[in-house]
Amino acid sequence: MNNPVATPPAVPAVRTEGLSRAYGAMNALSALDLTVNRGDLFGFIGSNGAGKTTTLRILATFLTPSAGRAFVLGHDVVAQVNDVRRLIGYMPDFFGVYKEMEVTEYLDFFGACYRISSAKRERTVSDVLELVGLSEKKGALIGALSRGMQQRLGLARVLIHDPQLLLLDEPASGLDPRARIEVMAILQELQRMGKTIIISSHILSELQNLCNRVAIIERGKLIYTGPTQGIRGQLENGVGVRVAVADGLDRAMELCRSLPEAIEVTPQPDVEGVFVVRLGGETPDISAVSSKLVGAGIRLTGLREIEVGLEEVFMKVTRGETQ
Ligand SMILES: Nc1ncnc2c1ncn2[C@@H]1O[C@H](COP(=O)(O)OP(=O)(O)O)[C@@H](O)[C@H]1O
Ligand SMILES: [Mg+2]
Repeated sequence: MNNPVATPPAVPAVRTEGLSRAYGAMNALSALDLTVNRGDLFGFIGSNGAGKTTTLRILATFLTPSAGRAFVLGHDVVAQVNDVRRLIGYMPDFFGVYKEMEVTEYLDFFGACYRISSAKRERTVSDVLELVGLSEKKGALIGALSRGMQQRLGLARVLIHDPQLLLLDEPASGLDPRARIEVMAILQELQRMGKTIIISSHILSELQNLCNRVAIIERGKLIYTGPTQGIRGQLENGVGVRVAVADGLDRAMELCRSLPEAIEVTPQPDVEGVFVVRLGGETPDISAVSSKLVGAGIRLTGLREIEVGLEEVFMKVTRGETQ
């Protein structure tokens, strides 16, 4: 950019304070307080109608809040629209593609919109195409590209003015698994380059291995925000451990029940010699289970923590909130 927008070093990439938006009598967003740090690959999760698009459109300056405030790299999205627009790359959930245009022509057009000089544009277009893996498609008509390629072209478009923050509204929806993985790989590369990325999705498993932090919203309200890693410990009721023993199942279960941190011990009816121990407390210690059993002479043949996906956590925290 010719005149980069000054961004104070200490401010987060995004901060919202009591951000609200009503459509008539309907509160699509209610007092959202959210912080996204610089360099985050941030997952914005919620089922359909939760308020994801509303939030992203406010951050992108295309919708004004009914109450509260939002800042992008310290700039108010209502009072400093032009600064914010230069700092962000916003990819809406549905964007029109110019089917009759060639790939390069399309990007050159958007480059010109951002007032990138014609001398610089060719290089910039070439760079963003390389980043999204479309260098081979320079002369192709957009209408002839696959859905996944069109989506990657959409990413190239929002990168043309080298924005610091990307707002991507369900960029992987409707893509086949392969195309989805390609998009996710590009996002990881962009994070490595130092971009901050907010990606929304209603598919939790899509984001849990990608994002370092997440926010979960439901009916316009924030339900959880924090590191993806910590989400389970914070929301789930303890940690589940699957235990397999060669003999003495009943005795092994009794021993586990006597552990102070055991909340629940349940047999697995369909698998012989296997049961599940649920451990509570701040930092449940799985080794307590093995020590107890081995110490009592039980032949332990398997012990592993049961992984809980975001999906399950989400179902737990939103129970009763969704229809
Ligand atoms: N322009 C609008 N007019 C009226 N209601 C709207 C409008 N846009 C969104 N809504 C409603 O606001 C709520 C949140 O929508 P949205 O932000 O699109 O959710 P999401 O992107 O999470 O699916 C939904 O109940 C939706 O029907
Ligand atoms: Mg949406």
